[in-house]
Amino acid sequence: MLTPRDKNTLLEAAVAAPSADNSQPWLYRWMGDALDLWIDARRAGKPSDARYVLSDLGLGACIENLCIQARALGYTDKVQYLPDEEQDPLWVARLEFSPSNKEPPDTALAQAIPRRCTDRRFPWKGPVEEALRQALAAEASQLPGARLVWLDPGSQQRHAVLKALQTAESLRFQSRRLHHELFSSICFSAGRKGACPEGLSPRSLGIEAPVWPFFKALRHWPLMRAFNAIGGARLMGLRSAVLPVRLSPGLALLCIEGEDRPAILAAGRALERVWLRATAAGLSIQPYAAPGVLGLGFVEVEARFQDRLGLIRQALEQACSGGCGLLLLRMGRAAGLNKNRGARRPLSSFEWRGGE
Ligand SMILES: Cc1cc2nc3c(=O)[nH]c(=O)nc-3n(C[C@H](O)[C@H](O)[C@H](O)COP(=O)(O)O)c2cc1C
Repeated sequence: MLTPRDKNTLLEAAVAAPSADNSQPWLYRWMGDALDLWIDARRAGKPSDARYVLSDLGLGACIENLCIQARALGYTDKVQYLPDEEQDPLWVARLEFSPSNKEPPDTALAQAIPRRCTDRRFPWKGPVEEALRQALAAEASQLPGARLVWLDPGSQQRHAVLKALQTAESLRFQSRRLHHELFSSICFSAGRKGACPEGLSPRSLGIEAPVWPFFKALRHWPLMRAFNAIGGARLMGLRSAVLPVRLSPGLALLCIEGEDRPAILAAGRALERVWLRATAAGLSIQPYAAPGVLGLGFVEVEARFQDRLGLIRQALEQACSGGCGLLLLRMGRAAGLNKNRGARRPLSSFEWRGGE
């Protein structure tokens, strides 16, 4: 039997997982020692979350935290994905925990759960040593179908992926639909240094003080559109992604074999394992989801942007040597701790209350 304290420890680990735009799209319900997880419909299904790809990645990360924490507490876990996909596609998993008689595992990953965070600062120092690269790749490979591919400076693959990253990140400012989604996930009311319990806290974005008022004004589409006429979207793509990546010593691509929902859940789990191992080794990470998610082709963008999606997909596929490139991770060593970890809602707000 899980004790109430163990259940609480497990839930705290679960909600420490990363989620796209800090949407925290998780709901849980205990059924004895089994835990059911759902996607929270109120926080999922935005344009770039078509087919719940982003939510499934966040749920995958949440599942992995639960399994890692359960093993550290002395339990084994059994995970069933999508127990009733036809009737209830939001019911993502059932996890069953039972006491383990195995030796306690290495608890480094469990200890890293509360410390893991998205670091958007740059530049970062290196190198990311070969042994560490191999250890991170080994974490990804623990999940069937997942692989971490390193993109070395000077390689053709890296060049093509950076181009895809620039295209995808710029599209977030060029497409009215994606622009609305992005800017509505930032809680501007908190002020540049403020934080909010869900959504993107301005302070976690690390936007420079002089440009903050202009960035804030860009949430109004007419201004964004006018700025785009003089290359604004390209500039935003450079600042948010390409420049930080160029000033980081490590860049890796998480590749997966399939595109079905279990494959995406496994990718979320692999992402979390890599991120926790990196955190334990003192490495900072910022993920970039736009190229992979747009490349999958589920997201509906305006017709005039459609052809770009195929090019993005192709670049990622080539870098993966087959399969899909889903998440780009820039890595390196930051100067000092990141104090801008994304905040979380209270634990009680994640409880499933039945058909809400
Ligand atoms: C599926 C997924 C996609 C994400 N995409 C991005 C991204 O494109 N750019 C970025 O800066 N952070 C991205 N993140 C990081 C989230 O914004 C971050 O996890 C969230 O704000 C919570 O903050 P924390 O990681 O510090 O706990 C992503 C996270 C996940 C799980």
